[in-house]
Amino acid sequence: MTESLILRRPDDWHLHLRDGALLKAILPETARHFGRAIIMPNLVPPVVTGADAAAYRARILAACPPEMDSFKPLMTLYLTEDTDPDDVADAHAKGIVTAVKLYPAGATTNSASGVRDFDKVRPVLERMAEIGMPLCVHGEVTDSDIDIFDREAVFIERVLDPIRRATPGLRVVMEHITTSDAVAYVAENEKNLGATITTHHLIINRNHMLVGGIKPHYYCLPVAKRESHREALVKAATSGDHRYFLGTDSAPHSDPNKESACGCAGVFSATNTISCLAEVFEAADALPRLEAFASLNGPAFYGLPPNADTITLRKGAPVSYPDKIASGEGPVTVFDPGFDLHWYVEG
Ligand code: NCD
Ligand code: ZN
Repeated sequence: MTESLILRRPDDWHLHLRDGALLKAILPETARHFGRAIIMPNLVPPVVTGADAAAYRARILAACPPEMDSFKPLMTLYLTEDTDPDDVADAHAKGIVTAVKLYPAGATTNSASGVRDFDKVRPVLERMAEIGMPLCVHGEVTDSDIDIFDREAVFIERVLDPIRRATPGLRVVMEHITTSDAVAYVAENEKNLGATITTHHLIINRNHMLVGGIKPHYYCLPVAKRESHREALVKAATSGDHRYFLGTDSAPHSDPNKESACGCAGVFSATNTISCLAEVFEAADALPRLEAFASLNGPAFYGLPPNADTITLRKGAPVSYPDKIASGEGPVTVFDPGFDLHWYVEG
């Protein structure tokens, strides 16, 4: 029985760090274990220009505790119909920005400035293809007549595939995939395509959120789907296939904003993500492939070297971790996987 595991230090390829007091409170939860993270730009107002990204990166670095100062935030720009291709290319060339994020307008938290007319962003996408800059995609349609559980599958057919056909050189990350439809699309498309999977979508299905009382801390977007989809995600993540990598989509909201008549979408999993993933991979008899998913496939997609250092996981008695992180904006509940965690990161 494996009792310890050494991994290259992992990275998080999809993370919400917020700003101000919340940023300060939750950043150590990620910086403690992860080397780098792709930082989502959905602040209010969003991070839309290279100058915005440089300023946000400076605020993140200033909020990082000195003992975790090797953490590297990789910045993204929020794609709008007014995004300037020259600004994007310039920020990329200067190393300020790593990727661009596409939110369909209205898809999720703070996405009002997202894209309605995809023809309007074609010049930006073409420039990104030329310079090899990845596009991270929140893959859900927002049409009111499409059922929320079908929004990812419909997006792939109506939006994603047409964008990829129109701009074949564009490197695309299907973010936080939640369906077997997305896994099937990745399987059929080898070139210029990657997909991130969150920790919580490997663990919960929609029953966890809705049976026996509504659990607001399991509500996120894309919403968790039925069990057969979760099983497809576990198979994909644990397969070792280079196109799948970790993007936790850890997305903190204060408890009052989650436990509300109109609760915010987002699961906060930074604190115990590595322990949760070790349980999932162990249960799938795939612990040796955790490193590919969490530490190797992501950098390879982004053309970056893996982190030079390692972390050590050890297995022992059930691990204790805080159930909430205090912040200047109120407590933030940590993801509850619903089972004991036995793996912990040493040190
Ligand atoms: C994210 C957030 O709160 O910013 N919420 C979520 O449920 N994932 C937004 C997002 O990435 O969709
Ligand atoms: Zn997100």
